Amino acid sequence: MTMEILARLPGPLLAWFRANARDLPWRKTEDPYRIWVSEIMLQQTRVAAVLGYYARFLQTFPSVEALAESPEERLMKLWEGLGYYSRARNLQKAAKLVAEAGGQFPDTYGGLLALPGVGDYTASAIASAAFGRREAAVDGNVLRVVTRLTDCHDDIADPKTKKNVRAMVQAVMPEKEADIRIFNQATMELGATVCVPNGPPKCGECPAADFCLARLRGTAESLPVKKAKRARRTEEKTVFLLLRDGRAALRKRPDSGLLAGLWEFPNVEGSMDEQSASAAVVAWGLESRAWKNKLTARHIFTHVEWHMTGYTLEVAGNGPAEWEWVDAAGLETHAVPSAFARYYEEAKRELER
Ligand code: ADE
Repeated sequence: MTMEILARLPGPLLAWFRANARDLPWRKTEDPYRIWVSEIMLQQTRVAAVLGYYARFLQTFPSVEALAESPEERLMKLWEGLGYYSRARNLQKAAKLVAEAGGQFPDTYGGLLALPGVGDYTASAIASAAFGRREAAVDGNVLRVVTRLTDCHDDIADPKTKKNVRAMVQAVMPEKEADIRIFNQATMELGATVCVPNGPPKCGECPAADFCLARLRGTAESLPVKKAKRARRTEEKTVFLLLRDGRAALRKRPDSGLLAGLWEFPNVEGSMDEQSASAAVVAWGLESRAWKNKLTARHIFTHVEWHMTGYTLEVAGNGPAEWEWVDAAGLETHAVPSAFARYYEEAKRELER
């Protein structure tokens, strides 16, 4: 179903684009240098903001060699106000590479992708527009067009969704070189000017209106689905690697919740200095004999990040009855999650001494 709908897109889309495309300077050329500069400027930046910069940039640097040879300040001054300045630095790095290669741009997706500042989308956009390569470029505009056309409710924040969309668009891309050169521009243009992100799409102007599932079902304005990244909270912890007679203390985590039922080194909430940590050791009924090491570590889970301060120390006493004191072999047979890897490795070293 989905592929059949998508396969209907190229014909009407290309006819629409040829009649309605905005007249943009980088669409009047097949020069990879000019197309590359436009695509870098258009990253995270609207067409209206780019136009003036683009013209001035090409006047100042009419060739990739001119850009490669420019003093950095001149370049940065020209970029001033456009934002994301690392783009300008990468542009010059890439220009130097291209100039060293005799001024020849890489003419494949893979070759372009290797240039600094060129990602998946930009590599495809240049490969198709400048070299007629059949490479689908998928940006936010294209994701919106495709998910609406096929009434797809997959989360576009999930990289798998973009991968799927790219594969589908790739499969329906036209074969003729003249069509390939404009196809990516056309899908993007439809998203930017007709199948717009905020407010109702202009279905009256859309070449795909007849077969658009979201239009048929009234779901266009709820697409694409983008799940918000959940904020991750941080928890500070103090972890104890407690050693006694060639054994280390482990305790079992509760049967429910994060890392349920796994083994861990005794730990308490909060980041403690040695004095507070000492008090915690005493509260467990232990006596500290020698402080050996302090080790910090971090571990990132989906919804929480642990920041751990750890102490290695020799103790005397038994501690709470439910703890186990394990030797090197015992450590191997207890499942200690990798959140504690730094302490686990340290325990192994200590116990194998
Ligand atoms: N956004 C990214 N690439 C673009 C292009 N070639 N034309 C218009 N908008 C774009």
